[in-house]
Amino acid sequence: MTGAWRASVDDWRWRLAHGCTGLRSIHSVVVLAETESTQDAPETRAAAAGTLVTAWRQTAGRGRFGRHWADTGEEGVAASFVVAAQAPERLALIGAVAAAEACASVLDSRADEVGIKWPNDTVVGGKKLAGVLVERRGDLAVIGIGINVAQRAFAGDLAARATSLAILGTTPDRMDVLLALMRALDDALDASDAHLAARFARRDALRGTRALFSTPEGPVEGEVVSLEPMRGLVVRTDSGERFLPALTTSVAEWGVFRRASVDGRLKTTDSERR
Ligand code: BTN
Repeated sequence: MTGAWRASVDDWRWRLAHGCTGLRSIHSVVVLAETESTQDAPETRAAAAGTLVTAWRQTAGRGRFGRHWADTGEEGVAASFVVAAQAPERLALIGAVAAAEACASVLDSRADEVGIKWPNDTVVGGKKLAGVLVERRGDLAVIGIGINVAQRAFAGDLAARATSLAILGTTPDRMDVLLALMRALDDALDASDAHLAARFARRDALRGTRALFSTPEGPVEGEVVSLEPMRGLVVRTDSGERFLPALTTSVAEWGVFRRASVDGRLKTTDSERR
């Protein structure tokens, strides 16, 4: 670690420790200089509920469904918050609302464009700005949140699916994004399910759009008629409306998706990988 890097990490430690003042649920912050994943760092595994672990540089972030989270050096915010275990749907909703509201708070005039693609992607203009990974660890759970901050462009197929605060026209210091995330997370942790659902509904990007869903009974395609984030969705398919429970449903594709010409069966693309 160079002297400048050490100074930056020390500055984060100092400012984030002060950022905890007045928060109800976040009691301490651990700042790592570099780690593969804040979800897996020994400091996270040893942490008590109420601890936020972040890293100046995350090198091998993990996403949902075993995917890779494409951190690019020091351009994003990566944070894992350790909390007492509770319903996974509630924790997913807390992460979704906190990530979206933190992004909105630093986007100023574009704040209203920030949406949530159920269950917990932060999206702007159909592109992903932040992602949430919730994992259970015995009596505890870890809410991992990644936010794209300073990336000026994304390579390859990510270019069509990912965005960053910089691409959206604002270049906040990563520390300001972290502080906004801490405040939003602390606030969401304290909110009732009903209040969280109302805040989700304000930013719901999936309702009224078509998507392809993975369900235990196979793929279901249709327009989302209504959505209760912790319960499930009602989807209008070619053969009528269907209720898809939150616990067993995931979005396979959203936005532009295509039909295979063979057998009239749906064919998935990789548009949901990030
Ligand atoms: C997703 O959209 O699939 C979830 C992405 C979650 C990324 C964050 S970054 C902080 C924490 N550490 C990780 O390795 N993953 C989460």
